[in-house]
Amino acid sequence: MALIWRKQMSVGNTLIDDEHRYLICLINTIELAIRTDDAHDILATTLEQLVEYTQIHFDTEEQIQLKIKYPGLEEHKKEHKKIMQDLHEVKKKLDKILSTKKSTNSTAAVPQKDITDSEIEQLLEDDPDTQLDESDLTPLIKLMRRWIIEHVLGTDMKMKPYLANHHSLFS
Ligand SMILES: [Fe+2]
Ligand SMILES: [Fe+2]
Repeated sequence: MALIWRKQMSVGNTLIDDEHRYLICLINTIELAIRTDDAHDILATTLEQLVEYTQIHFDTEEQIQLKIKYPGLEEHKKEHKKIMQDLHEVKKKLDKILSTKKSTNSTAAVPQKDITDSEIEQLLEDDPDTQLDESDLTPLIKLMRRWIIEHVLGTDMKMKPYLANHHSLFS
């Protein structure tokens, strides 16, 4: 199901909110591409955009936090760094799956399934040399989505009271 940005997700800064909207849009595009036959070129490109744009967005937030002297800056930066490391790791795995799919010329849509906590742990503990098949694609995307959304709704939201005093900044 497509994610929709809602008012409750607002951190009270137009620039950050707009960037969150765009991140959600990229995630929705990726999820749609997975379910669409012959859309794997779009999938690879959008995934790359997601990783790049997440970094751009994290830089924006850190600059704003610096400017408003946000007390949680260092902690927040650490979380951004960890998410980027994990995203790069997952992207590597996804690229491997996509190249395998391309070489076997498979156009079958990947079935949707919910990811469980044990699957997440398993994915994070994966040996990089482990063989992956196309059924791994959906859980990996859901993992990316979960990291980003949980960060927006949890950690980013802590900025809200501090941003309230700087309405016009970067807006
Ligand atoms: Fe954010
Ligand atoms: Fe953030």
